[in-house]
Amino acid sequence: MVSRKLAFGLGVFVQALGLAKGDVTVYYAPGQNPLQATGSAAAAAASYTGVAAYNPTTLTPPPNFPIQLVQGGVPGLSMQIPGHFFGFSVEMSVVDQICDTFINVPFLNLIANLVARSGQFMIRVGGNTQETAAVIYDTIANGRVMEKNLTGVSNPTQTPPLLITPGYLALLGNISSLINVNWILGVPFYTPPNFQLDIVELGQQYLGEHLIGIQVGNEPDFYVDHGHRSPGYGPQDYVNEFGELVSAMNNPANSVNQHLLIGPNVDQGWNLQDVWNTGFADTYNNNLAALAVERYPTDNCFAQFGTGTPRDPQSLFPTYLTHQSAQDMASPYPASTAFAQTKGKPFYMMETNTASCGGFAGISDVFGAALWGVDYAMTMAYNNFSGIMFHFGGHNVFYNVPPPTNQSDFHQYTVGPIYYSAIVVAEAIGPSNTSQVQDLGANNGDPNTPAYAIYENGQPVRVLLVNFIDDPSGNSDVTSGISIGGGQTGLPGTTPASVKVKYLRASSVSQKGNYTWAGQTWGTQFSSDGRPVGDEQITTINCDQGNNVCNIPVYAPSVALVFLSDAAQTENAGEPSTTYATTARTKMYNTATVDPAVLATSNGAKQMSSKLASTSKGSASAAQGIRAQLPGLGVVLFVAFGGLGLLGRGW
Ligand SMILES: *[C@@H]1O[C@H](CO)[C@@H](O)[C@H](O)[C@H]1NC(C)=O
Ligand SMILES: *[C@@H]1O[C@H](CO)[C@@H](O)[C@H](O)[C@H]1NC(C)=O
Ligand SMILES: *[C@@H]1O[C@H](CO)[C@@H](O)[C@H](O)[C@H]1NC(C)=O
Ligand SMILES: *[C@@H]1O[C@H](CO)[C@@H](O)[C@H](O)[C@H]1NC(C)=O
Ligand SMILES: *[C@@H]1O[C@H](CO)[C@@H](O)[C@H](O)[C@H]1NC(C)=O
Ligand SMILES: *[C@@H]1O[C@H](CO)[C@@H](O)[C@H](O)[C@H]1NC(C)=O
Repeated sequence: MVSRKLAFGLGVFVQALGLAKGDVTVYYAPGQNPLQATGSAAAAAASYTGVAAYNPTTLTPPPNFPIQLVQGGVPGLSMQIPGHFFGFSVEMSVVDQICDTFINVPFLNLIANLVARSGQFMIRVGGNTQETAAVIYDTIANGRVMEKNLTGVSNPTQTPPLLITPGYLALLGNISSLINVNWILGVPFYTPPNFQLDIVELGQQYLGEHLIGIQVGNEPDFYVDHGHRSPGYGPQDYVNEFGELVSAMNNPANSVNQHLLIGPNVDQGWNLQDVWNTGFADTYNNNLAALAVERYPTDNCFAQFGTGTPRDPQSLFPTYLTHQSAQDMASPYPASTAFAQTKGKPFYMMETNTASCGGFAGISDVFGAALWGVDYAMTMAYNNFSGIMFHFGGHNVFYNVPPPTNQSDFHQYTVGPIYYSAIVVAEAIGPSNTSQVQDLGANNGDPNTPAYAIYENGQPVRVLLVNFIDDPSGNSDVTSGISIGGGQTGLPGTTPASVKVKYLRASSVSQKGNYTWAGQTWGTQFSSDGRPVGDEQITTINCDQGNNVCNIPVYAPSVALVFLSDAAQTENAGEPSTTYATTARTKMYNTATVDPAVLATSNGAKQMSSKLASTSKGSASAAQGIRAQLPGLGVVLFVAFGGLGLLGRGW
């Protein structure tokens, strides 16, 4: 085969070495394989009619495929990706949909698992409800930290303004004092030039250095559609208002905040280039902490609100089980991520997930979504995003309910598929802030089997392989032959004697819950206290050093994360990083405890599992103290990890 599009990756490298094109392994740019259109995989996927089951396809077994890695790196790698790349986004208002308070220990465990892998974790609190949020300084009944202002709300579909107390920000600060979580807060932007700055002022007061961004405007490109600005409102108007906010922040309480702003946070309503053309990034260079956008692949608004286009999840499901989805999500942005790099600004996907308006039952809550989330995030890293925040909560009150009160104690959270994506990507990227990602266009760009290399300091350290195919027979398992150097590279072969592999597995893409990462699971509905269950199973695969290749099986379906050296694995040990032991009891006897020594060292520290604290009833308990002071915290963040899965539906 002769490459026609040596657009990136090894192709470019080999070409640069002056090798004859006809001799080289062909790495098409994704989607540019001229043979692919006639390939059996594409044909089989296209013929799926989605009638009987979610199982999209049992395909002709794909060929095993080589992956050639190159010491010293290759052209076309991403920029260096920060450890906090994979983050979460929580709708500011989610608490108002919940009438009970929840214990936050599972939340702490869930985030601690991520911090152990990524060193730090980023959560954006915002969304449409940030726009009308206001601070009240009175306390709210039952120790809650937020409520809806129902005064004057007559239209049942209207989103009531959100009232939050200073305690809301204190809660976020309390989390950051325990685990290394950094926050992006939305600032209300509906009423320029009169801005409500209390939220961000309190945010600065309570979060300090853990406040890393302030989102200015949430999808301002849809303000006109939603009746918040007059027709004709465009990029220049937004930029002018941004300037008004900067002016309004000219006071001591906002002296730091004034430099933490993030814009334009647009979806696809405006052409991004039109925003850049206003001079936004230069004019406010000193004020901008990052540039950002928001986007979902589709929406489920018709089912939720009766507006928009009806969507059939059954026929949409296969569109998530292909690398094409990730490529489509990234496709509007390469020029903008390049632009952001020239301005020295991070570029965030501020809000995203499987579908807006709450996701789809049968898509958002199944193993396929975990595969999709991994592939999507890795593709965005390859496309030079600095962060991607998967959204939980929101307008979809239907999906967004807590477990029945009598089930709401420890061991009772449902961990959704996107959480597994977060764990996998956190380990793939690691905490070094130096990882560079390459979409390998592997297997001749087969969209069923995307693969990525992760380089650090020019050396390949990890390979992430996805197999989207749903085929329990084993016939669609693939084997990827990874080589480092050797062959056509002209470099010495340095494939190690063995590699370690962690798998993300389930029996099928439509399985709900019980997925395993390296043999450990967060269980099914109502079953998790945030700690993984089971013994960690890391597979060691012996390589063929004579032939300079490691053959890695990639089961259908699964993700395989290959660690090319022990150091590549231990840097983000991904150990059972449990920080906060809990015991399932009734709420009367909240026995969650935290060893103070664990708390003292929990900021991104590893090996916390060796310090499990007491779980005995009645023992002195830091977690009890936290709980008492954080009545709403678990509620705010509970939804992020449990609420979405509670009815078997995620975002
Ligand atoms: C609640 O909404 C009403 C009607 O818009 C308004 O007058 C009132 O000030 C709001 N209350 C608070 C505490 O913001
Ligand atoms: C990402 O950024 C790097 C470094 O600037 C650049 O070489 C690469 O082409 C970019 N990748 C994409 C997909 O835009
Ligand atoms: C919780 O309440 C539901 C509804 O009242 C009941 O069906 C269920 O058995 C209860 N579960 C427990 C564990 O008490
Ligand atoms: C990664 O970047 C974050 C944010 O700048 C920083 O706090 C952290 O120390 C960095 N990690 C490493 C390993 O340098
Ligand atoms: C989940 O896994 C557990 C432990 O293997 C098993 O007992 C349970 O039946 C599984 N549940 C589902 C829904 O697969
Ligand atoms: C939570 O934050 C508040 C306000 O900063 C502080 O007074 C309180 O001690 C914190 N509680 C814990 C458990 O860290």
